[in-house]
Amino acid sequence: MKTDYEVLLALLRSRKTTYDFTDKKVSNSELNKILESVRWAPSTRNTRPWSFVVVKDKKVIDQLMHTCYYGDFKTFPDIIIAIVTEPMKVEVQDLARRGFRDFVGSHKYINIGVVIPNIILSAQSLGIGSCIISPVVREANKVLNVPARKETIILVGLGYGSKPHSDKKRYKKPVQELIHKDKY
Ligand SMILES: Cc1cc2nc3c(=O)[nH]c(=O)nc-3n(C[C@H](O)[C@H](O)[C@H](O)COP(=O)(O)O)c2cc1C
Repeated sequence: MKTDYEVLLALLRSRKTTYDFTDKKVSNSELNKILESVRWAPSTRNTRPWSFVVVKDKKVIDQLMHTCYYGDFKTFPDIIIAIVTEPMKVEVQDLARRGFRDFVGSHKYINIGVVIPNIILSAQSLGIGSCIISPVVREANKVLNVPARKETIILVGLGYGSKPHSDKKRYKKPVQELIHKDKY
């Protein structure tokens, strides 16, 4: 039997960005499983400074995909989960007033970065492909009617990929090239 680590590492290794999605739909039950995983993401003082717009409308998906800075997508995902920044709670702002000037500014985005793996890995565990897309925020806000004080900061596309994940050799830096010992 595989250990939890082996299962997790296999998921991490097999996931890659999907650029060509098939017509196969992500079911509501699969989507709900992916959304459930989002609830368990950690966040600064449990503030969860995010909300999600689940987009299934093909016209809106097409508009959102055209807001991205870069991307060589052959076909578009079946669903997009657009992640929108929400204000962090007062206690965190108090913390920032105690001297951590950039605390709120940086943590707003760090928290968004923390929630994305829950989405893409739970999708991967269901055999569903994913892509992360950086939109021009003001354009994506406009498409989704998000007020200007909030940011549609990142989009996560979900759908079935047309190729098996192992079709392409990928280079990832070896651990030794990433790690410094004790000091930088
Ligand atoms: C924060 C973030 C933003 C990204 N934005 C885009 C994007 O706008 N367009 C795109 O094609 N890929 C985007 N990607 C996907 C990366 O290009 C991709 O993860 C990287 O090339 C490594 O490939 P892999 O996901 O297959 O391991 C983004 C990834 C991350 C983590």
